[in-house]
Amino acid sequence: MDNRPIGVLDSGLGGLTSVQELHRQLPEEKVIYYGDTARTPYGSKSPETIVKFATQIVDYLVARNTKMIIIACNTVTALALDSLRERYPAIPIIGVIEPTVEKVVADGCKKVGVIATKATIGSDVYGKSLRALDPGIEVHSTACPAIVPLVEDGLTDTEIMELTVKHYMDDFVKENGFDDLILGCTHYPLVAKHIRKLYPDLRLYSSSAEVVREASEILSGRDMLASGSEFTDRYYASDMSDNFIAMTDRLFADTDFKIHLLKLEE
Ligand code: DGL
Repeated sequence: MDNRPIGVLDSGLGGLTSVQELHRQLPEEKVIYYGDTARTPYGSKSPETIVKFATQIVDYLVARNTKMIIIACNTVTALALDSLRERYPAIPIIGVIEPTVEKVVADGCKKVGVIATKATIGSDVYGKSLRALDPGIEVHSTACPAIVPLVEDGLTDTEIMELTVKHYMDDFVKENGFDDLILGCTHYPLVAKHIRKLYPDLRLYSSSAEVVREASEILSGRDMLASGSEFTDRYYASDMSDNFIAMTDRLFADTDFKIHLLKLEE
């Protein structure tokens, strides 16, 4: 048993979709969440900047005595996971991409679409990882850079968002004819309702949810699951946006949590 909290990070509030899943699958686990709301979006930034920001956050979470780090951000996973694992070899650091790819291949998907940020799509990490497990798989990818800023601005449930999704996806879906779609950004489960409405035949895979399955396997395999912890979940944001507060209120209405403003210095 290990009652230390799990550190979870994202560029903003997208990673809260993984925390929601963590509460569902592993209700005994406690979290320290860091959303870098002052510097979001990461997906349009350079690899060097993404690695620098992610390292600052993970340094902080490790210093808070976390037992595991969940990188609830595809962009950070794509660009910084390897260097973070090298920096902290003794702590399990898990990203959202591997577990998602494993699930998609295990389900026998053969023609897959991937939507994500510019940085994630530019790295082609989904294409490479899917083909490494199944060389015959067909992968089509496209970046949807405006979705994250709209979510962070609280426009998730609006017509503007539906039009934005349609703008990025209409031709992409029609031209490529895939059956399965990976939501390769942890903000995207929040817009899944628009995707389902526009493309009801697509089967959706959420990277936010798959990472929790992997966390659960690692914690139980190492006898590190929590039980009866008195720690209260803590949520930190580098800029206290109204939307971050509204989102945590909405997602975690039935749990005890505290939000704090915390800027990490270089
Ligand atoms: N939730 C992050 C991801 O999964 C969004 C990155 C961004 O800030 O652009 O990629």
